Amino acid sequence: MTIRNKHSKSSAFHCNAGSRYSALAVWILIGFLLMVYFYSHVHQNDKEDILLPSSHLVNTRELEEAEEARFYFAPPKDRRSPRAVKRKGPRKQTSIIHEFLDESSQVHAYFFPNRKTAIGPLKEGNDSMYFYPGQLWLDTDGNPIQAHGGGILYDDKTATYYWYGENKNGPTYHAYKKSAARVDIIGVSCYSSKDLWRWTNEGVVLRGEETNITHDLHKSNVLERPKVIYNDKTDQYIMWMHIDDVNYTKASVGVAISDSPTGPFTYLYSMRPHYWDSRDMTIFKDDDGKAYIIYSCRDNSELHIGPLTDDYLNVTRVMKRILVGRHREAPALFKHQGIYYMITSGCTGWAPNRAQAHAAESIMGPWETMGNPCVGGNMVLRLTTFFSQSTFVVPIRGLPGTFIFMADRWNPAELKDSRYVWLPLTIGGLADEPLEYSFGFPYWPRVSIYWHKRWRLPEGWRTEETR
Ligand SMILES: *[C@@H]1O[C@H](CO)[C@@H](O)[C@H](O)[C@H]1NC(C)=O
Ligand SMILES: *[C@@H]1O[C@H](CO)[C@@H](O)[C@H](O)[C@H]1NC(C)=O
Ligand SMILES: *[C@@H]1O[C@H](CO)[C@@H](O)[C@H](O)[C@H]1NC(C)=O
Ligand SMILES: *[C@@H]1O[C@H](CO)[C@@H](O)[C@H](O)[C@H]1NC(C)=O
Repeated sequence: MTIRNKHSKSSAFHCNAGSRYSALAVWILIGFLLMVYFYSHVHQNDKEDILLPSSHLVNTRELEEAEEARFYFAPPKDRRSPRAVKRKGPRKQTSIIHEFLDESSQVHAYFFPNRKTAIGPLKEGNDSMYFYPGQLWLDTDGNPIQAHGGGILYDDKTATYYWYGENKNGPTYHAYKKSAARVDIIGVSCYSSKDLWRWTNEGVVLRGEETNITHDLHKSNVLERPKVIYNDKTDQYIMWMHIDDVNYTKASVGVAISDSPTGPFTYLYSMRPHYWDSRDMTIFKDDDGKAYIIYSCRDNSELHIGPLTDDYLNVTRVMKRILVGRHREAPALFKHQGIYYMITSGCTGWAPNRAQAHAAESIMGPWETMGNPCVGGNMVLRLTTFFSQSTFVVPIRGLPGTFIFMADRWNPAELKDSRYVWLPLTIGGLADEPLEYSFGFPYWPRVSIYWHKRWRLPEGWRTEETR
């Protein structure tokens, strides 16, 4: 657990009181850093003036209020006989994560509320346009949305958002005694929406393979975290995804293409990018049309990042190792005012853990770690990323600096019942955890993901968008 206190962090720089010269050097250095810091801020403010629409009326302040969450759970009952209790002593204390993952616990029931509390366009009422992180979310047909580990593409041609994700609507089982819970590959689902709230099922746009056992998409394999970007030059929609075998030893990426955002996508091939193992991954299309892949590598101990070829169908020779030895996965990249940001999770299987935000001036690095972006709720929620894992960050067109953080609340007891945790993410202010070597001066603006039990995008955000 990290205690956030700007003042408690001792400077890595030790000043020798005996040497005036080194003291002077330190002050010159500090002065210089301050100058750089203020200059860069003046500079950023300049950019902000240019980027913001002249009449930026939409109020996002409501989203940035830290909201408290309280929950109380009675300690789990000891169901053993009094004799067994006497013999073996009191029950070992279980962690809240353990209870959260235990289907029969009250904690699990709290974080996976049943269908009665489902939200969706068919029962709009007062709840229209409100996101309820963790509650069942229904599409325009009234069925639970099946788009896990997903990502969102905004398609300019149709002025529509498309949500792609894993369709996990099958039985959860363990292939081997000690292997992780899984669902056979069904395929990649696609949903469309104009407002990010009413989602219409466009069907399975990349299908799993039923019979051909040597095919990457054979149902016995693994397809995770599909992401789609549009290639302006080839006029094609390109999907990248994590492809693996049942034991996660293939550790590859797969590529599929389509002429339409709603598919069908044609599966091309899988590869090990830069000849390395690749598990959790994402792709990111920059403003200049260049696209990048980011993947967890070397048994998830580090991330690799590298540009794709111009057709987005392959990697190039260029690759950088980032966050080496940090053991991060579930990367979600975004960009604001020329700075790149990334949210990652730790590696604890289906169990939730603490998120981290990272920033870089160049997408190829160096990437620096800023700390836990989660705000509000309570300590347990913040240390578990609100009991979820990052998958994507959606820029809100027309609201610069405001994003939707998309995460999965995995339910390994019943993977198809995994939930979506969408929360507002904003960038602004100074990071409250200074970098280790910045002499206590925080540099990057803070990335904040605000807990809300119920929230909506500010009214009028779509009119801003079309302005
Ligand atoms: C809408 O909210 C009002 C006041 O909170 C409540 O009385 C009413 O029952 C709600 N309607 C629906 C459809 O939820
Ligand atoms: C099965 O899949 C493999 C790999 O994609 C392919 O080479 C082969 O032709 C397929 N076989 C059939 C019968 O479709
Ligand atoms: C996965 O591992 C199990 C035993 O751990 C083994 O029997 C099986 O052949 C492996 N499957 C693949 C596809 O590697
Ligand atoms: C991707 O590029 C590498 C060389 O960088 C090449 O060896 C490989 O065959 C390419 N893969 C495909 C599917 O084109």
